[in-house]
Parts: sequence; C-alpha cells; structure tokens
Amino acid sequence: MTEKVVIAGAGHAAGQLVASLKQQKFAGQIVLVGDEPYLPYQRPPLSKKFLSGDMPVERLYVKPASFYDDPQIELRLETLITEIDRDSKTLKTDSGDITYDKLILALGSKVRRLAIEGADLDGVHYLRSIADVDGIHAELQHKKNAVIVGAGYIGLEVAAVIRQLGLAVTVVEMADRVMSRVVSPEISDFYQIEHTTQGVKLRLSTGIAAFRGEGRISAVETAEGELIPADFVVVGIGIVPNVELASDAGLTVEDGIVVNDQCQTSDPNIYAVGDCTTHPNSIYDRRLRLESVHNALEQAKTAVSNICSKETHYSQVPWFWSDQYDLKLQIAGLSTGYDDIVIRGNPADRSFACLYLKDSKLIATDAVNSPKEFVHSKTLIAARTVVDRDKLADTKVPLKELY
Ligand code: APR
Repeated sequence: MTEKVVIAGAGHAAGQLVASLKQQKFAGQIVLVGDEPYLPYQRPPLSKKFLSGDMPVERLYVKPASFYDDPQIELRLETLITEIDRDSKTLKTDSGDITYDKLILALGSKVRRLAIEGADLDGVHYLRSIADVDGIHAELQHKKNAVIVGAGYIGLEVAAVIRQLGLAVTVVEMADRVMSRVVSPEISDFYQIEHTTQGVKLRLSTGIAAFRGEGRISAVETAEGELIPADFVVVGIGIVPNVELASDAGLTVEDGIVVNDQCQTSDPNIYAVGDCTTHPNSIYDRRLRLESVHNALEQAKTAVSNICSKETHYSQVPWFWSDQYDLKLQIAGLSTGYDDIVIRGNPADRSFACLYLKDSKLIATDAVNSPKEFVHSKTLIAARTVVDRDKLADTKVPLKELY
C-alpha cells in the first residue's frame, strides 16, 4: 500500500497533484518539495495580467495557504533536490533526506539562457517565475527603450504589455517570422501586422551578438553589427525541461522524462508529469513533449488516479493559448506535418481561425478571438474523421455539425 507520496517540484502541476490526491481520498502522507519560496502557482498570467499589474499575486496561487494547513501535507519549500536514490527510495535535498513509497516528478523546465557578451548586465531579464516579474516591475518605471529577444509566446506577450505601458519596444527574432515554432505563416503574418500597428518594431531573421553597457544595458548589438538602444531587455528564447535528476538516477530520458500513458516512468515507483515529460499520444500516434498547462494538469490527475489504484490512461488533444493586446489565440492540437490549410472567417475582422488538415482530417486549429472554433475543433481533432474542407471554410456551417 502507498503510505507516502512525495512530489518533487512545487509548480502548477504539483498544486494539482496535491488537490487530486485529496479529491481521490488518498489517506497517506503527502510531501511537497520545491526550490521556489512560493506555494504552487500558475505561470501563464506572469507574462500577461500579472505583468501588466491587473492581477494580484494571491490570484496566481493554485490553492490558498489554508489548503496546505493540513496534518496530511508537509510543505518543503526553498528546498533543493540534489539526487534521487532509487535503491533506498530516498530523495536527497540540501536540507535532509526524504523517503517515499511513490515519487512524482513535476520538475517543469528552466529558461534557455543567452550565453553572449554582456549577458550578466543589469537590466537583462528572463521571465519564468514570480521573482522574475518582481525584478521586472522593480525596474520598469522610467524605462524608455525595451528590446525583447525572441518572438515566441513570452516575447510577444511581454511586448504587448510593455508597449501598452508606453515604452518603445523592439522585438528581435532569429527566425523569419514570429511564433514559428507553433503557428503557420498565415497566423504569423496576422500577428506581425498587429504588433507593427501597435508601434512595436520587429527585427526578424536577426541574431544577437552582444549586450552592450557599463554595468547596465545600454544597447543590444545584432549579429549584423547594428546597435539598438536599450535600457531594458527581456529574453524569451524558449525553455529546457528539467530532466537531470531523472537521468542521473538512471530513468529513461529522451527529450523529456519518458513516461507511459499512465504517467509512470521506467521505475514503477516513480511517476512524472508536465513539461519535463514525453508521453505516447494516441491521437497523433507519436511521443510528445508538451509545454502546456493543460497537459500538466491532466497528467497530474492521471498519475494520481493510477497511484490510487484507479487505472487511467492519458490521451488528450493538446491545447495552448496566448493573450496579446485584445487578441486571444487558442490553439487546439498540433499542426506539424499539415498538408492543407483552411481559413475560416476573415483576419480583417480580428476574429478567424486557421484549420490544419492532414489526409483530409483536422489535426489542429489556431483560433483568434474565436472560442467556438477552438472548442469544437478539439472534438473534431479527437474524432480523426475525414472532413469536408468547403464546410470547414463556410462560417455559416457550425463546426459542431461536422462531428
Ligand atoms: N535570438 C533571437 N531569437 C531567438 C534566439 C536568439 N538567440 N533563440 C531562440 N529565439 C527565438 C525562437 O526562434 C522562438 O521564436 O525565441 C522564440 C522562443 O519562443 P518559444 O519557444 O515559444 O519560447 P518562449 O516564448 O520563451 O516561451 C517558453 O513559456 O509561455 C510558456 O510554455 C510556454 O512554451 C512556452 C514557454
């Protein structure tokens, strides 16, 4: 019988793990171990409403402090895990050993860092934690020229927020279009026009050579040698999953910690959930490592069910979202490998969707200010049936009539 579950990592997924263990009436001890000083919190608002000041810190927390005030739960915050000893089922930390019956790795990811000259200058920021945003807030006032490195979700969301605060904003992106990792050229074009209209300067196909300044950033030097004046920089060039503890412990690791569809690693006493994992996805017939809140929360529920002896298999259509200005981008599925694209609605109306097909089946949808298209796409993607592209394109035909 499982008497003690230890959760390694205290982020969003970890908060869901504790909540699910309680919901599923787990009767043993729950230990939550994480290096940050905060209770489990949501990261998506960090680059949106929390950054803009429209959301207080309390609303970031998955559960209030009172929820953890429970003899069943032991909180070990500000605790760095240094090793997993699988033989003795012990987690080694900088403040002592913790034994487990079942261990759940919810270790998340870390930001990719730019290793260039001037990387440590004051005024160069990353954005992944509450502490990062506190650092940004402490400096943002009286700044004039912001340079954002990377035009992914983080870069563009930050650009939108600080442009609306009145700063001059230049976004420097290595690829030839924005959000190229996740959306098609059609959606990139739309967002490029939007940001440009808002006054953001976009430098595409441009690398960074160095950050210049004496102690503090004063300019960003591009690979072509151009100096862009900057008194404030945010770097958002992607994330790297935290897999080192797992690989050092001899667990199977590829581009993430390998789990099965029950969220179990190659050690049956160790589960893993969220950004740090790669799982077999039956809808796409391949392994996926997802940077997605939805995936983290659903994998957390799956892991807990299996630990509580309710066999559960994880199989879901992934989804993601991004808020920029008054535009909500909702992405259902993964468009990689599409062979046909249908535009539903008119981008000029600022409400439309791009639907991606492969072999005449819907595999993904990017919906801009179109929540219905997003919701019904998830069902259509899961159905994996052949769809009529003319009907997909016809806004008079509701998507829900196609499944
Ligand atoms: N110079 C300029 N741009 C770069 C560089 C570089 N040296 N290296 C990478 N980039 C660009 C990439 O081409 C990409 O467009 O940075 C962008 C990073 O975008 P994402 O991969 O979406 O990563 P990011 O925006 O940092 O978001 C990380 O946080 O929002 C969450 O989970 C979400 O996956 C997302 C994660």
